[in-house]
Amino acid sequence: MRRLIYAAVIPLLLLIQVSFCSDHIELPTAGWTISKSSQAKIDANAIIKAAFSSSSVYKRLAYMTDTYGPRLSGSSALERALDWVKEEMEKDGLKVQEEKVKVPCWVRGHEYATLLSPRVKSLRMVGLGGSVGTPNGKPLVAKVLVVSSFEDLKKREIEAKGKIVVFNVPFQNYGTTVNYRYSGPEAAEKEGAVAALVRSISPFGLQTVHTGEMGTAGIPSAAVSLEDAEMFARMQARGQEVVIELYMEAHTLPDQLSRNLILEIEGSEKPNEIVVFGGHMDSWDIADGAMDDGGGAMVSWEVIRVLHNLKLTPKRTLRAVLFVNEENGAKGAQQYFQDHEHELNLTSIAIETDEGTFTPYGISFQGSKAARAILNDIGMGLLSTIGAGNVTGSGVGTDIAYVCDQGVPCGNLLVLDPRIGNLSNNPCNGFSHPPYPEADPLKSAYFWYHHTEADTVDKLSPQQLQHCAAALGVWTYSIANLNSLLPR
Ligand SMILES: *[C@@H]1O[C@H](CO)[C@@H](O)[C@H](O)[C@H]1NC(C)=O
Ligand SMILES: *[C@@H]1O[C@H](CO)[C@@H](O)[C@H](O)[C@H]1NC(C)=O
Ligand SMILES: *[C@@H]1O[C@H](CO)[C@@H](O)[C@H](O)[C@H]1NC(C)=O
Ligand SMILES: [Zn+2]
Repeated sequence: MRRLIYAAVIPLLLLIQVSFCSDHIELPTAGWTISKSSQAKIDANAIIKAAFSSSSVYKRLAYMTDTYGPRLSGSSALERALDWVKEEMEKDGLKVQEEKVKVPCWVRGHEYATLLSPRVKSLRMVGLGGSVGTPNGKPLVAKVLVVSSFEDLKKREIEAKGKIVVFNVPFQNYGTTVNYRYSGPEAAEKEGAVAALVRSISPFGLQTVHTGEMGTAGIPSAAVSLEDAEMFARMQARGQEVVIELYMEAHTLPDQLSRNLILEIEGSEKPNEIVVFGGHMDSWDIADGAMDDGGGAMVSWEVIRVLHNLKLTPKRTLRAVLFVNEENGAKGAQQYFQDHEHELNLTSIAIETDEGTFTPYGISFQGSKAARAILNDIGMGLLSTIGAGNVTGSGVGTDIAYVCDQGVPCGNLLVLDPRIGNLSNNPCNGFSHPPYPEADPLKSAYFWYHHTEADTVDKLSPQQLQHCAAALGVWTYSIANLNSLLPR
């Protein structure tokens, strides 16, 4: 994921002072002040009430994940899930547009890893997305070299040749540690390794193994559990010889045709101007993908369903996109960007929800100070009743990154990690700057389940999904109803 910081050129008139912890921000023009409009409050409360009075999101998410299971791009399960979603949307009385997307098709096939020395043990392992299989369709047997970092690998480069390199790197945060999953295999291949095993990118494990996309490498690459990676390191430190047998059938088939699903509520005054938001339908092939990101896709659909039922039409068009291929290629995001590039200067904001649909507390925002002030006003005025009105520092998800890179204001729905919840150490009581306290990575439960078999619907509650739909509904509807597009 790329992040872009641009210097916003703000006209003198719009210059505002955003001071640390201050919620008294001078708004650019009087017309912006949402919290003073009684109609805006009535609409927001109607959206909140409607979202909290329906259990359809959870039911649909549970049905989809139970019935179709994992939805990797290129799989028939993804296509059947998309067909079902489309039919259900039509039953809701919504018009669905399909946008064709060519997606990669990676197939895991059968795979296993066995520790042969110093004892025999069947290992928990999952091949990394994009990996090749073991050569000639045969298992390979090799000695193991455990390294603790890229630097450590460099120091021991002579030892790496002909070995299975294990990257035993403890989780710091996702953005940092995921580099080992992405670039580890290629680095090991460069030193002549025959395979790469990466400690699962997670702060905690119960022999859980986490897959995910890797960069390009010509050697078979897989994830192992935290526990086993630690054990290999202990064995190596004692001078024990560690030998592993690895077998993988992973391969890549030709690209397949899939689609993004799009729902709209056409704007009443400025139908060509757009507020776009969404989540992704695809998941890894071992994960039901309830948290990542079935919940985000279902909640985006729910926003349109709720507004449609309430017959609430904002000034601008609201567009929900259920993307495909977020996990291994972002082709759905690229296709959306290509098909809608001509509309980017008419896009007020793009909002993604892909961090788990737990209890929402606001949005992270990338854009101008003037736009941020407006969002703070909306958050305080219309979302504080459900605690979802915080606006924090920048964040851009994969599915909207292409749009954001072109200067469109962007946001991510922020959710409380299920294991976090103590706000008393936030100097601002959770509001405004500084952002909501950084999640303690050691307590971050999202990454316990992310890209594993354990990403199932029980990790979410019906109330959390309703809460997310309420929050996303008020945010998107209110922004679509402003007097103007959000200032760049
Ligand atoms: C967006 O671009 C189109 C054509 O490129 C132009 O007609 C339109 O006025 C622009 N809109 C805004 C809001 O800048
Ligand atoms: C900000 O987040 C905290 C934590 O969830 C919440 O208690 C508070 O109400 C939120 N503020 C607003 C304006 O929604
Ligand atoms: C919350 O955090 C504060 C400050 O870090 C600490 O003193 C307090 O005991 C914590 N409360 C709970 C319920 O964990
Ligand atoms: Zn995701």
